[in-house]
Amino acid sequence: MSQQIGKIGMGVIGCGSIAEIAHLPSIDRTPGVELIATCDTDEARAREAAEKWGAHAWHTDYEKMLDEQHNNLDAVIIASPPNVHCEQGVAVAEAKLHLIVEKPLAVTNREAWDIVEACKKAGVKLMVGCDRRFWLQNQWAKQLVEDDVIGKVMMGRATMHEHVRFYQDNFAKTDFRLKPEIVGGSAVSDTGAHAIDLLIWLLGSRVKRVVGVAKRNVLPESYSKADDTAVIMMEHENGAFGYVSCNRFTPAVSQFTELYGDEGTIMTTSDATNPYQTAPLAVFTNRDYEHNKIPEIIRKYRWPQIFWAEDLMTHPVQKRWVSIYPPREPNNYDRLCQHFLDCLINDKKPLVSGEDGAHAIEVMCGVFKSMETGGWVELPLKEEVIPPLYKPRRKR
Ligand SMILES: NC(=O)c1ccc[n+]([C@@H]2O[C@H](COP(=O)([O-])OP(=O)(O)OC[C@H]3O[C@@H](n4cnc5c(N)ncnc54)[C@H](O)[C@@H]3O)[C@@H](O)[C@H]2O)c1
Repeated sequence: MSQQIGKIGMGVIGCGSIAEIAHLPSIDRTPGVELIATCDTDEARAREAAEKWGAHAWHTDYEKMLDEQHNNLDAVIIASPPNVHCEQGVAVAEAKLHLIVEKPLAVTNREAWDIVEACKKAGVKLMVGCDRRFWLQNQWAKQLVEDDVIGKVMMGRATMHEHVRFYQDNFAKTDFRLKPEIVGGSAVSDTGAHAIDLLIWLLGSRVKRVVGVAKRNVLPESYSKADDTAVIMMEHENGAFGYVSCNRFTPAVSQFTELYGDEGTIMTTSDATNPYQTAPLAVFTNRDYEHNKIPEIIRKYRWPQIFWAEDLMTHPVQKRWVSIYPPREPNNYDRLCQHFLDCLINDKKPLVSGEDGAHAIEVMCGVFKSMETGGWVELPLKEEVIPPLYKPRRKR
């Protein structure tokens, strides 16, 4: 525990855009968590983050931070570029500190499993920063599936379409996401990291085999050599099929998820609705529900298309699409931070485990492998797959 008795002492490595927009404010808003130290290779960024968010110390070398702040730290958030996640993640685990690693957990499958193994060996908790799982519409979709509201879910689709310039020009502090030698992939592993993880979680079954395309199809090579288009098909261990599509060239940001069961359909959108996806969560169930037996999530948060009293007229209630609008606060990152704190205090398994993060990397690497072989690739991969333009750092 940190100096202030009873508080979890946090360090942050990488004080760029996501730390500034999401993690540092969430640490600040979460009672029971205390920011101890910040670290960034850019001195000004490390210092300014410490000053703004009230950290006790700042560093430009993560090893020094782990060494000098060790007695005050309980956990570290890694929000640096993906090519250094592995060496930093392993070092944090070896320092016996718990960790959240921003998505993607790593770039290659070997890097990802190295972090997972190091955490297991050290007995520390590892969570991956897949914040989409903390949007209430996605958590409620998962709950409704578990409550059997749409029956056996055998097909799903997840998308994340966002022009790379949207984040790069407005938020990012560095240009690593334009460089495949640092990130491996873009549509497949930057935005794809969210869509792949979310769909696997909602379908509730790991991927048995994968086939896909990750390709620079639209943006000029002079801007970035990374892929801007990813189309992925996954066959899951329970026989379900999942389809993921992501692009980095569409100006309007859209993200949606569809789940198809033999008794209904659930659709979610994160962040942005549009004339086609007009509610964060939409449910159609073929089940017969009496008015007072409708699952709580649907009863409390739906806005029916009919006058409320009409719901009492038919038995069971009329079958129709239901739109659900969950509250937006506390936001997804605050929920993520509170959840991690709960895991540390009450010894729970993090919602996005290290194994989940490594499995998602297996899928991404499987896509690169399938482009090589031209067919389905069985998971887990038998060897390390290095994305074509990626330059792994082998410091350790
Ligand atoms: N969950 C999300 O939706 C989301 C959104 C954005 C970024 N991310 C992830 O967060 C991570 C960081 O992305 P970002 O957008 O904040 O990047 P950024 O370019 O805005 O910031 C990266 C920061 O890391 C620092 N850095 C680089 N190498 C370092 C090192 N070796 N040690 C310490 N600091 C180092 C840079 O100086 C910079 O301040 C990536 O893994 C990215 O995929 C997640």
